[in-house]
Amino acid sequence: MVRPFARHYDSIYSDKDYDADLKVLSTLCGHRDMSDKRVLEIGAGTGSHTIRLAPRLKELVSLEIDPDFAELSRQKVEAAGITNVRLGSRPIEQLDDDKFDGAAAFFHVLNYVAPTHRSSFLGALAARLAPGAWFVTDLWNGDAVVRDPPRHETRNKTVGITAIRQEISPTVDLGLNTVTLAYDIDIRRCDGIEHFAEELKLYIWPLHDLEGMLLDAGFSNVQFWDCRRFPAAATRDSWRVWMRAIRR
Ligand SMILES: C[S@@+](CC[C@H](N)C(=O)[O-])C[C@H]1O[C@@H](n2cnc3c(N)ncnc32)[C@H](O)[C@@H]1O
Repeated sequence: MVRPFARHYDSIYSDKDYDADLKVLSTLCGHRDMSDKRVLEIGAGTGSHTIRLAPRLKELVSLEIDPDFAELSRQKVEAAGITNVRLGSRPIEQLDDDKFDGAAAFFHVLNYVAPTHRSSFLGALAARLAPGAWFVTDLWNGDAVVRDPPRHETRNKTVGITAIRQEISPTVDLGLNTVTLAYDIDIRRCDGIEHFAEELKLYIWPLHDLEGMLLDAGFSNVQFWDCRRFPAAATRDSWRVWMRAIRR
């Protein structure tokens, strides 16, 4: 049984613009036509990028380590009738495939990677990319998060006949560079309310540390852009950034 946060993820993030992310991806990777490209997606979630990206590619290999999300992305890809996607639920270090033309990790996936796991993650990624391949991702800018930490907030939205209340209580630990987000969520429909909680532990990367680790792992040309003002370059105050690095 898929847990409630995963089951309701698409409603909770119904205002997320997946098509806009793919436009940024094609700008940053520089390919208008990607129909001969093999791409690796890391952190598919419920597969909303997956089903939009795959039809533009020769092949998409899509990884999701959370079993509930992996199951939902499988269902979404199957329902869309897409046949050029291979889904995997093992960590990238165990992926038996390489020579990808590019890799993408959308919506803060790098912030899920613990410091103890960073160099193995980036090394495994580099080992699976062809020379010249791109890696595009969006993440929190650790420097900006430290200066302007997330605050408690309540988000309310209505999706069709469903009213969603999401209370977010962050706990910031600047010693460990972590932000723990405690979610308290109500999903209200005419037949009743479903109430549940979810906790996410996110790790913040100072951008110069991330750049150094990417260079050590075999990447070059690491660049950052401000997500809100794309294609403006990121500044120290850009809270969320797009990043592109090129495999040497
Ligand atoms: C915020 S969600 C984004 C999901 C999807 N990309 C979207 O935009 O809706 C981040 C996802 O990355 C997954 N994830 C985190 N670390 C991962 C890793 N090392 N390998 C594969 N998936 C990972 C998480 O399980 C989670 O589903």
